[in-house]
Amino acid sequence: MKFLITGGAGFIGSNYCHYVTEKYPEDEFVCLDALTYAGNYNNIKSLEDKPNFKFVKGNITDMELVDKLFAEEKFDVVINFAAESHVDNSIKNPRIFLETNILGTQTLMDACRKYGIKRYHQVSTDEVYGDLPLDRPDLVFTEENPIKTSSPYSSSKAGADLLVGAYYRTYGLPVSISRCSNNYGPYQFPEKLIPVVFSKAMKDEKIPVYGTGENVRDWIHVYDHNVGVDMIVRNGRVGEVYNLGGHSERTNLTVVKTILKQLGKSEDLIEFVADRKGHDLRYAIDSTKAETELGWNRTHTFEEGIKETIEWYVNNQDWVDNILSGEYKEAYKG
Ligand code: NAD
Ligand code: DAU
Repeated sequence: MKFLITGGAGFIGSNYCHYVTEKYPEDEFVCLDALTYAGNYNNIKSLEDKPNFKFVKGNITDMELVDKLFAEEKFDVVINFAAESHVDNSIKNPRIFLETNILGTQTLMDACRKYGIKRYHQVSTDEVYGDLPLDRPDLVFTEENPIKTSSPYSSSKAGADLLVGAYYRTYGLPVSISRCSNNYGPYQFPEKLIPVVFSKAMKDEKIPVYGTGENVRDWIHVYDHNVGVDMIVRNGRVGEVYNLGGHSERTNLTVVKTILKQLGKSEDLIEFVADRKGHDLRYAIDSTKAETELGWNRTHTFEEGIKETIEWYVNNQDWVDNILSGEYKEAYKG
C-alpha cells in the first residue's frame, strides 16, 4: 500500500515516519511537508536512504501541487498530521491556523475524492472538546462529548473535524479521526512545555509557568499515540472518531518539577508569568473505544516515558541547539 503522510517533518509525524518505515518494509511512504518553522528535516534525514520513504516539500493548501502529487503517486491511504499546532501562536495570529488546518484538510480531501483512496485519516486533538473543571476528577472526554473549543487553534482543528465528518456523510469519503491528548517524546519543537523546560533549564534560564501552574494535561508518549493512529488507519471503522489518551494527568507544575529534578536543577528557576488567554484548565481522555475495539494500549508510564525523553534531549542537545540557532532551516538541501 502507498501512504501519504503530511506533516511528517514535525514532532509527531516524524516519529510516525520512523515507526512505520521500519515496521512495514513492504509499504511505501511519501512525506509531504512545507517545512514551516516547526518542520525540521533533521527529524527525518536518516530515512533518506530507505527504499520505502520519499520526502516532498510542499504545502497542503497548494491545490495544484497536491493534485499533481495524487495523480503521480496514486495513494491508498492519506494520514494528515500537518497543522499549525501551537496554541500560543494561534492567539497571536489565528489566520494561518484556519488556512492550514481547515483549508489544508479540504484540499487533501478533495484530492482524495478525485483520485479515490481507501482511507483518509485526520490526526486531531482532545482540545476540540474544550476543557474540564479542576474540581471534577470524575469527568473525562469521551467521543460523545460536544465540540466546544477555547482557542483559535482548537477551533481550527474542530472546524477540520467537522469538515471530515461532512465529507464522509456527503461524499461517502472513507474517513477516520483520532483525538489525542498531550504528547511528549523525541523531536518536539522547543516551543511546547517539555522541551521549553529542558532547553531553559540547561542554560539556567527562568522557566515560564503560566498562571498558577495548576492546569492539568493528560500526557502520552508519542510512540503510543502513533501506534494508536496506525491501528485506527488499518483496523478502525470508517466514519468513526477514536480518542487516544495517556491516563497520566499531571499539573504543569508537577511536570516542570519532575524535569528539573531529573536534570539536577533548582526549582528556583520556576517563574510564574501571566496566564495564557482562555487557558484550558484540564484535559482527561477516555480511550475505552480504542482499547476495546482495536486492542490499543499504552506501553509507557509517564514516569518512565518522561525519564527516557529527557535522556533523549540530554543526548541530543545539538538537535535543540540547532533549532535555537536557526541552523536547522538549512537541513533540507532539496
Ligand atoms: P508540529 O508543529 O511539531 O509539526 C507540524 C508539521 O506540519 C511541521 O513539520 C510543519 O512543517 C508541517 N506543516 C505545517 N503547515 C503545513 C502546511 N500548510 N503544509 C504542509 N505541511 C505543513 O506538530 P505536532 O505536535 O507534531 O502535531 C502533529 C499533529 O498532531 C497536528 O495535527 C496536531 O494538531 C496533532 N496533535 C498534536 C498533539 C501534541 O501534543 N503535540 C496532540 C494531539 C494532536
Ligand atoms: O492536548 C493536545 C494538545 O497539546 C495539542 O493539540 C497541541 O498541538 C499541543 O501543542 C498541546 O497543547 P497545549 O497547549 O496543552 O501544550 P503546550 O506545551 O503549549 O502547553 C502545555 C501546558 O503548559 C499548558 O497548560 C500551557 C503551559 N505552558 C506552556 C508553555 C509553552 C507553560 O506554563 N509555560 C510554557 O512556556
